[in-house]
Formats: sequence, C-alpha cells, structure tokens
Amino acid sequence: MPEGRGSWGSKLGFLLAASGSAIGLGNIVFFPANAYTYGGGAFYLPYLIALFVIGIPLMILELGIGRMTRRSMPTALKLIGGTRAELAGWFGVLNAGIITMYYITLLGWVVGMLVGAARSLWQHAELAAFTPAPGALTEVGTFFFDMISGWCPVLFVVIVWLLNLLVVVKGARSIEAVVKIFVPLMWLIMIVLIVRGVTMPNGVQGIFFLFTPDVAAMTQPAVWKGAFSQMFFTLSLGFGIMTAYASYLPKKTDDVQSATTISLMNCSFEFIAGLAIFSLLFACAIVPKASTLSMMFWVVPEGITRIPVMAQAFGVLFFALLLVAGLTSSVSLVEAVVISLMDKFALQRRHVLIGVFGVGLTGSIAFALPTVVDTGLDHCGTFGLSLLDLVDHWAFGYGLLVCGLLEVVILGWLFDLRRLVAFINESARFKLGRSFVVLVRYVLPLLILTIVVLSIVEETGGLYGHRMATGSIRGLHIIAFGGWLVLGIGGAILLTLLRRRTPLEEAP
Ligand code: ALA
Repeated sequence: MPEGRGSWGSKLGFLLAASGSAIGLGNIVFFPANAYTYGGGAFYLPYLIALFVIGIPLMILELGIGRMTRRSMPTALKLIGGTRAELAGWFGVLNAGIITMYYITLLGWVVGMLVGAARSLWQHAELAAFTPAPGALTEVGTFFFDMISGWCPVLFVVIVWLLNLLVVVKGARSIEAVVKIFVPLMWLIMIVLIVRGVTMPNGVQGIFFLFTPDVAAMTQPAVWKGAFSQMFFTLSLGFGIMTAYASYLPKKTDDVQSATTISLMNCSFEFIAGLAIFSLLFACAIVPKASTLSMMFWVVPEGITRIPVMAQAFGVLFFALLLVAGLTSSVSLVEAVVISLMDKFALQRRHVLIGVFGVGLTGSIAFALPTVVDTGLDHCGTFGLSLLDLVDHWAFGYGLLVCGLLEVVILGWLFDLRRLVAFINESARFKLGRSFVVLVRYVLPLLILTIVVLSIVEETGGLYGHRMATGSIRGLHIIAFGGWLVLGIGGAILLTLLRRRTPLEEAP
C-alpha cells in the first residue's frame, strides 16, 4: 500500500467527511433550480425513485468496494474486474477531475460574490463589457457579469485551489479535522436561512409552488435524466469519492448503515435548502425562471437584497454557506483524483498534489477566462462561463450516469457480486438479500441505460444543440464536447496502459 494513505480517526469523522462531500453546491442551488426547471412537484417522484432505487444501492456498492479492496476506484475496479474495469475507473476519475476544475471556478466566483456582498457592491455595479437588452439584468446580475468579465476571479480561483490543497495535504487526517468544523457550520447557516425564508410574508407560497405536482411533465425523459443526474451529483456518486473515502475505513464497518445515513443527511439538507430558497423567492415576488447558475449568482441574491432587515448580512451568509459547503465537496473531488494516482503509481502525496494543482488550476482558469464572446448576453457572456456551461452539460449530464452504468455492469457481470454482498453483510446489521443482486445486475443497468439513450435521442432533436448553435458558441460547443471526450476516454486509456508501480497482492 502506498505510503501516506492514512485512515479516518473515527466513524464520525468519516460520516462528516462523506456527508460534507455530498452536501455542496448541488444541494443548495442545483437542486432547487432543477426542481423548478423540471416542473416543481413533477421532479419529486423521479427524485425519490432515484434516491432509493439507485442512490443508496450504488453508494453501498461504492463504499463496499473501497472497504473490501482498501483502494481507490481505478485500482479497486482493476482488482475486481481486470483491465477493462480499470479503464472505466479512470474514466470516472477523469470525469471527476474535469468537474473539479469547473467546480473550483464556481467557488472562485462565489468568493467574488461574497466580497461584493460584504463591501455593498451588488447595488452599484455597471456593465463595461456587455450591452444586454434594457431591463434584462437585475442589479446583482450586473455585478456578477461585471465581475466575471474581469481578472479578479482568476485570483480567487488560485486562492480556492490553495485552500483545497491545504485541506488534503495530509489526506484523511487533515480532511477530518476540517469537516468537523465546516459540516456543523453549514447546517447552522442553513437553519438561519430557512428560518428567515419561511417567516417572511408569502414565503409559504413558494413551498406550495415547489411541491405542487405537475404530472404531465413526468412523462418527459428530460425530467428523469435531470433527477438521476442530480442524484449522482448530489450523493457524489460516479466520481470515485465514496470508494476512496471508504478505503480509509477499518475492515469492520457497516456500509448499509453508512450509505443510508449519508444519503438521508444529504437529501434532508437538499430538501430544506429547497424550502429556504423558494420561500425567499416567493416572499420577494421573484419568479425563478432560472438555470442552475443564474439561480446561484443572481436570482437568489436578488431575492436576498429585498429582505427588509439585514439584507447585506444575509447576502454574506448565503455565499459563506456556498463556500463552506462547496469546499467540503471540492476537497473530496481533489482527494479522489490524488489517491487514485497514488494507488497506481506509488507516488508521494506531495508530488501528486503538485501535479494535480498544476493541471487542475490551468483548467479552472480556462473556465474563469473573462474574454467576452457574447456582448448581448443572449447566452453566457464570457468564454469561461460558456465553456463551463457546455462542459457541464456532458460531464454532469452524461458523464456521471455513464460511470454509474459502467460500475453496475462491472460489479454485476464481470465479478461475482455475491462475494461483495457477502463481504458487506459480514459487518451490516441490515443484510442485503437476493433482491439486491437482481437490482444491481438487471434493474440498474437497464434503468440507467434507458435514461441515457432517451436523453441522447432527445438531444438529436436539437434540445441543447439548438440553444447553443450560433456563431462562436458553436465552436465552443465542439471544444467542450471534444475536450471532454478526449480527456475522459483518451486519458483513461493512457492511465490504464501506464505501468503500475504498486503491487496488487491484496486482491479480494
Ligand atoms: N455532491 C457535491 C455537490 O452536491 C459534489 O455539490
């Protein structure tokens, strides 16, 4: 085993780290935005099905293989299913690496918004580089686009990367020390925000709106893909994170209990974040016609500026929450990549950190590039934001689902799944039965595959291409899709073929 792999100091430390990984930007803004986009109440049934049928079972598997092999995803899969399986593991880790790059850019912008809130700059910004239609942007939206069309966010991105390195520098030990403070802190801030949201006049209307079912919307594949991708992202599945974190656990740990606790903690946080945000928006008479990014950077902040008392303090609090929750997730993303490389190449942690920092920072800066490509703000304005939006479409929308599909196919068909189930059952109070094996071998592959295929079919109808098929954006679309494919698949092939420097003597 490579030097410096480390282990958790306590079960609580592991649960806090895993739930800190799960709770992030996905819970606070992506969930309410997706729920709204896909028809409010219509989103809940697919979401709950995704939680119980895919989310919790897949988390049990990811934890199980990490604990059984005591390795991170690519090496664990290699031990389980050979070279083909390792390839899939690297694809997952590289997809996670790409998401890490833009996740950290988003956190850099979060720092920019936090500074803007603290210095009362949201209301006084002017647009130098854009000429949107009159009234198209709110005051906060103006501040956001003005900020991202400058170079300051690049500095913030460097700072966020350095913070991540500081947290993962000693692996599980340093991560545990930080999450013990950050995870309770983010729950505390969330509670303050929800109390503020629901006690505002009309706040409750937002809750009704979010939870009123729209059955017609449920027949669209996009709603199901939205719910399934959201579930993968929010539970940090398909990234290799849970396998890495479980590999630091003692041999006797209850994976079924851990997976259920982490998933339910995550989804309750998401649920109250939805309540807080929609009650706030309705109290402030804002119709949230919002994508995930607009929700995060100008729709919710615009609502916050309309809070009668202490609006500035709530603005600071909201972005502090995003930063704290985002950091506990981004460190897990960085750690999943770092430990995967350490496990295969027997490199020292600090050497891997330097390499990951160099490549990761370059990618994050590309997503933060302020060059204006769309002055009318019909799409995303800057090169960086447009690239981010396009890459996210593939890495988040498809990458995680494809990784999940590969995982269940490998575990169900290239390996004797009953051995893994028996191993998990040895330490579990609630035993997994034959139905779990049937679920993993037949139901999950079919379900995920159906969602992916239906989404691709819908895609060819121009759903996404249509929105982005103009001028320079079309070129960016090709860069984003091509870059994602080449980095994900090409990189996975390369990393699989490179010679392993750690022995595999501990095969299960
Ligand atoms: N699970 C993390 C989030 O929701 C990645 O942000």
